[in-house]
Amino acid sequence: MRAILSTQPAIPAGTLAASPQPMLRAPGGLLLRPWEPSDAAVFLAAYQDPDIQHWHTRQPASEDQVREWFDHYRKAWTQETGASWAVTRGGGQVLGRIAMGGMNLDDGVAGCAYWVLPAARGAGVASRALTALSVWALGEAGFHRLHLDHSTRNLASCRVAVKAGFLLEGTKRSDAVHSDGRHDMHLHARIRGDKQLA
Ligand SMILES: CC(C)(COP(=O)(O)OP(=O)(O)OC[C@H]1O[C@@H](n2cnc3c(N)ncnc32)[C@H](O)[C@@H]1OP(=O)(O)O)[C@@H](O)C(=O)NCCC(=O)NCCS
Repeated sequence: MRAILSTQPAIPAGTLAASPQPMLRAPGGLLLRPWEPSDAAVFLAAYQDPDIQHWHTRQPASEDQVREWFDHYRKAWTQETGASWAVTRGGGQVLGRIAMGGMNLDDGVAGCAYWVLPAARGAGVASRALTALSVWALGEAGFHRLHLDHSTRNLASCRVAVKAGFLLEGTKRSDAVHSDGRHDMHLHARIRGDKQLA
């Protein structure tokens, strides 16, 4: 049974799930859309990239498992716990992934994560996708705070966060394990009303 809340929820339960997961547009013809079963091969292939393997320790083992993950993403939307989008060129070619997780509707907070396929990197895909996600999440969707963390050694991810208006709030010492051991993690956040910094 759901506990009684002594404050108003930032987003009343059921609000997000009342509509399908939205498609979000970003400059340069990017369209963020829910994953489709036919994306399984490219999604699996992404995890062959050494950088994605290094920074994302949870990896799918097969296309079947990827499709199970896609099912889990759909369920997460209906349960209002998370959402994952394919970052695409106009809805077709998949360029990357962006996701929200750990949604807390009472407080209006959620975490963000992303990767971009090697061939699409360095063209502003991640930062444009993260900005579009933030504008929707902190606007129409009603979230108050989005946070993300990355290893202090992942300079590209740090730059993406800053370009999308996520201020650096501090360093979480020894907070995560990557393929070469424990890493200190930067915590960044963007809050409703923060001005876009870049
Ligand atoms: C991090 C990642 C998502 C960036 O995607 P992207 O689409 O190339 O990002 P953008 O083009 O929007 O921005 C990248 C920025 O990082 C900078 N950058 C790239 N490599 C860098 C490096 N080694 N050191 C410093 N900055 C770097 C780029 O110059 C660019 O900044 P600029 O626009 O000011 O020049 C992509 O490299 C990736 O998927 N890496 C592997 C997985 C990963 O790290 N995921 C994030 C885990 S927290």
